[in-house]
Amino acid sequence: MPFKDDNAAGHIIDLLYVVISFAFNYKAVKCWRLLLRSHRIKICNKSADCCILSLTNHYYGIIVMYREIARKRGDIMETTRAQAWELLTLYNKEPFHLKHAKTVEGVMRWFADELGYGEEADFWAIAGLLHDLDFEMYPELHCIKTEEIMREHGLDERLIRAAVSHGYGMTPVEHEPEHEMEKVLYAVDELTGLIGATALMRPSKSVQDMEVKSVKKKFKTQGFAAGCSRDAIARGAEMLGWDLSELMEKTILAMRTCEE
Ligand SMILES: [Fe+2]
Repeated sequence: MPFKDDNAAGHIIDLLYVVISFAFNYKAVKCWRLLLRSHRIKICNKSADCCILSLTNHYYGIIVMYREIARKRGDIMETTRAQAWELLTLYNKEPFHLKHAKTVEGVMRWFADELGYGEEADFWAIAGLLHDLDFEMYPELHCIKTEEIMREHGLDERLIRAAVSHGYGMTPVEHEPEHEMEKVLYAVDELTGLIGATALMRPSKSVQDMEVKSVKKKFKTQGFAAGCSRDAIARGAEMLGWDLSELMEKTILAMRTCEE
């Protein structure tokens, strides 16, 4: 993939930084190892796990921070829309999945502008485009395989976090959406499915003339578009501090801008 090469420098920088971080923390690691060796019978696995986790989080945090600086300096290239589409279509062939990806892409772009993140609109849109990257090929490993694929292709950590955290509460992933972009993605993913299904029931088969009350009615009808998690939609609205009507109204407006 072309963007893999684009990010080759980023990978080398990351690797160097991990090595430097290890060297910097050499004493801490050495102490930990000595402690483990001399007290291995007394130290329970949980303590060892905590140590490892703490160190891992430290290195991960440094990598994310460093890549952010490098990205702002222009040392790391952003994933372009063309590159994201190439990756998406490598793992997705079903028209339904591609349509959903494009819908969420457009909706995320609208929300970026709406919420004052206009400068990052392209980035929000790519997060939307790629969020279900693994679902078609690895439905059982949804949001888990995505991380592996995105990391393999050198994608931005923020894209990885957004894609992984959109499965919070619905997959085994434990990353809760934190950034506003992640919360929006979480809130609109299932809702765009529900609104899209509601639109198909209308004579116009469109969201252009859709009202919030129609979506609310279908939201309460559990048997309708049962695959769209009402819990996730409600949780997403709560994360954003909006009531359900506000989230639905905004998402309908967003979908009107990208309806095919
Ligand atoms: Fe999705």
